[in-house]
Parts: sequence; C-alpha cells; structure tokens
Amino acid sequence: MTYDSLKNKKVLVTGSSSGIGKATAIMFAQHSGFVGVHYFRTKKGGEETFEQVKKNSDGILLCADVRHETQVNEMVEQFAQAAGGIDILVNNAGSLIDRQSFETATLQYHEDIYATNVRSTFLATKAALPHLKKSKGNIINIGSVAGHNGGAGGSGIYAAAKAAVATETMAMAKEFATYGIRVNSVMPGLIETRFHEKFSTAQRRKEVAEQTPLGRNGTAEDVAKAILFLASDQASFITGEYIAVNGGLYVRA
Ligand SMILES: NC(=O)c1ccc[n+]([C@@H]2O[C@H](COP(=O)([O-])OP(=O)(O)OC[C@H]3O[C@@H](n4cnc5c(N)ncnc54)[C@H](OP(=O)(O)O)[C@@H]3O)[C@@H](O)[C@H]2O)c1
Repeated sequence: MTYDSLKNKKVLVTGSSSGIGKATAIMFAQHSGFVGVHYFRTKKGGEETFEQVKKNSDGILLCADVRHETQVNEMVEQFAQAAGGIDILVNNAGSLIDRQSFETATLQYHEDIYATNVRSTFLATKAALPHLKKSKGNIINIGSVAGHNGGAGGSGIYAAAKAAVATETMAMAKEFATYGIRVNSVMPGLIETRFHEKFSTAQRRKEVAEQTPLGRNGTAEDVAKAILFLASDQASFITGEYIAVNGGLYVRA
C-alpha cells in the first residue's frame, strides 16, 4: 500500500516524545512533508523523535502541557506558522496517570484524567480547526479498547475518559463533515510502550499476550500503521469510525 496522498502533508502528532506518538511521527516523516513533534515532560524523547523525523522531512519540535488551553493554542499556532497550515492532527497525547479505583480515587485524579485525555483532544482540535477547514484535512484521535470494555485493575476512570474520546470522534465527524474534514480514531489494545512498562507488571503483559489470538502484544508501529491509513486517501470515505489494533483480543463470538 502506498501513501502518495500523504506527500507534502503537514502533520502534528501530540505526545510524540514516546511510544505510539513517536512511532507515528517517524512513520509520517517517511511519507509527508512537515511533521510536528510534541513533548511535555520528556524533552529528551522529543529531541530523539525530532532527530529521526529530520532524516526524512521538515518539522518542528514543540513543548506544551495539553491540559492547558493557552499552551495548546500556542503549540498549534507555532506549528501552523512554521508549516504553513495543518493537514493532519493526531490527538495522541494521553495517560493513565495512575491506577485508582472508583471507590478510592481522588477528585483531582478524576479531573487530571479527563484533562489529559479528553480536554486535550477538545483543545487541540478547536485550535487546529480553522487550519483544517482550509486544508480539508483530517483528525485521528487515540482512544483505547478500555473505552469499550471499562478497563481493568484501576483503569475505569481512564476507560470512561477514552469512551468520551470515542464519542467525540463520532460527533466531530458529523459536525466537521460539512467542511470536508474526516475524523476517525484508533483504539489500541495492549501496546508495549512506556505506558505499560509503568502501569502493568511483566506477568500481566505476558498473560495478555498469551490470550491474544495473534500471540503477542502490539507494538507502537502496529498502531502507527493504522493511523497513517486513516489519515491517507486510502480512507477517503471513512469518517466517524475506529480501528481496533489489538491482535484479535476482543473479537466477539
Ligand atoms: N500503550 C497502550 O497499550 C495504549 C492502549 C490504549 C491507548 N493508549 C493511548 O495511546 C496514547 C499514547 O500512549 P503510549 O502508549 O504511547 O504512552 P507513552 O509512551 O507513555 O506516551 C504518552 C505521550 O503522551 C504525552 N503526554 C502525557 N501527558 C501529557 C500532558 N499533560 N501534556 C502533554 N503531553 C502529555 C507524553 O509526553 P511527555 O512524556 O513528554 O510528557 C508522551 O509523549 C495515549 O493516549 C494512551 O492513552 C495506549
């Protein structure tokens, strides 16, 4: 499959200092013209991604806390000015932050989860919209399989936030279709990134791999490939949809 339609596209990938975002920014750089690499706490990771991106495309390195409106607006405008517009926005930055049950979670945790995963998507999308209207571009939101099944082991509040991302994807797709903008999402299963190194034991990751029909956990590149597909003209009549990238783990009987 070729991605000729991505040539010269201007792509902003939030949370590209690590994991899925990092793989996605590097893969876009192999096909596109200008890639925005974004980090918040992991400057070194952002710089590493940017080095890789620069081998194949132009780009810019940006820093912002995606929970904060002013910082997100500045990030998006900095990108648009440097690139000369925006064609593709990947709302990838997100986190489980911690494992907390509904019974014991603090209000602050609840608010931080929604700010990191839901508010961030809203803010970046709103800031990028004037540019996406001009380019008739598209948006990819990164949800989670947890948004479908409620998560497990203290990830319920995160799961609910990712369900909101899934619902926003459908609603945005309907609202922005009038501008020729497509909006889709990718819902990863267990992907081997820093995320699970931090929040899941090696034993748990091994168990999930064994339960997965394809016999392994996912890689960041597995997810990046689905994102590039949705962003490209290969998906020209697809909007409001999601691709589950989980090795068949949640295939229903
Ligand atoms: N790995 C999985 O199994 C899995 C499954 C389902 C969904 N997901 C979702 O996929 C996305 C990427 O996750 P990943 O596995 O690649 O995790 P990761 O390796 O931990 O990367 C997370 C990225 O999000 C950024 N980020 C987090 N909080 C931020 C904030 N407040 N402001 C700005 N950036 C922030 C991080 O930036 P800094 O480190 O620079 O702060 C980092 O670049 C997330 O939305 C996650 O919820 C992952």
